[in-house]
Amino acid sequence: MNDSYGRTIDYMRISITDRCNLRCKYCMPYGVESVSHKDILTYDEIYKIVLAGTGLGIKHLKVTGGEPLVRKGCCELIRRLKTVPGIEHVTLTTNGILLEEYLEELIRSGIDGINISLDTLDREAYRQITGQDGLEAVLRGMKRAVYASVPVKINAVSLDWEEMGRLNKAENWKTLVLLAQQYPVDVRFIEMMPIGCGKMFKTVNHKQLLEEMMQAFPGMEREKDKEKRHGFGPAVYYRIPGFLGSIGLISAIHGKFCESCNRVRLTAQGMLKTCLCFEDGADLRAVLREGEGKNLEEVMKTAIMKKPAAHCFEKPEKITEIHPMAAIGG
Ligand code: 5AD
Ligand code: SF4
Repeated sequence: MNDSYGRTIDYMRISITDRCNLRCKYCMPYGVESVSHKDILTYDEIYKIVLAGTGLGIKHLKVTGGEPLVRKGCCELIRRLKTVPGIEHVTLTTNGILLEEYLEELIRSGIDGINISLDTLDREAYRQITGQDGLEAVLRGMKRAVYASVPVKINAVSLDWEEMGRLNKAENWKTLVLLAQQYPVDVRFIEMMPIGCGKMFKTVNHKQLLEEMMQAFPGMEREKDKEKRHGFGPAVYYRIPGFLGSIGLISAIHGKFCESCNRVRLTAQGMLKTCLCFEDGADLRAVLREGEGKNLEEVMKTAIMKKPAAHCFEKPEKITEIHPMAAIGG
């Protein structure tokens, strides 16, 4: 459907759990207060919401978390979501720790693509950021997915390495960029957003990062027709001659893309959120559990019509979202 600003909303991110097996410093350094299982949407409830969503034109789903693969039955949910008429793509965002273990099952479920969150290729820096010595496991999962021809994207939050107390920052993004030389993966850099613990970190300005990249890789060129190759997300893509994958920049702060936003988010507890910046949303869990005859599709439609024109990350006093990213699903 179109929202009140004429944007076509056809993409829903679904956080199936706010738990995670990592403790990224900018996301959930101390873990989250675990929400009890009864407060989390059941898979049947998620399925019903997706069915209603297709009535409103939702076509693309991203299963996310926390870490989605820590919730039992994640692959089975994906298999079910793939059978819903009107759903064209179901993809997954994972930190990759359990990817090796679940890859075959994900493929059998019909997964259309996997995004792996990976901020560094330095083993010690990885441990510092995430709290776990997991880099090798993530890379094994990534390679297996690539060899199995599953489309893979790497998502790296751009971190200020001086602030992190390690490494030369140029070295960090460069080694990540070089992954796209060796493997057919899109390597995407994400500007840190002031949500949850992200507020405590500096946002690296991608305009500057792009300049540095272009200097390091002189043939780097903006990609035309990106929709054909990469879908309809907010990343701006670049090609480097001879590279198998593309480089993407997701610049929510310094390259605001709200006017082409196509998405809504379903939190693990069943709030339908229409913008990352704001707490508002529709409590779909309440409609499902104590609905009193309310129509799910209507409630979702009303929420989408109230989707704000833009985020307000540049005016932190106006941000009303208080939940951590892990509860919202990134
Ligand atoms: N800003 C930007 N990205 C974030 N992520 C987690 N917190 C933030 C933040 N404050 C990223 C994770 C993961 C994706 C789901 O969201 O690193 O790649
Ligand atoms: Fe877990 Fe992702 Fe948050 Fe890291 S960023 S703690 S992997 S949910």
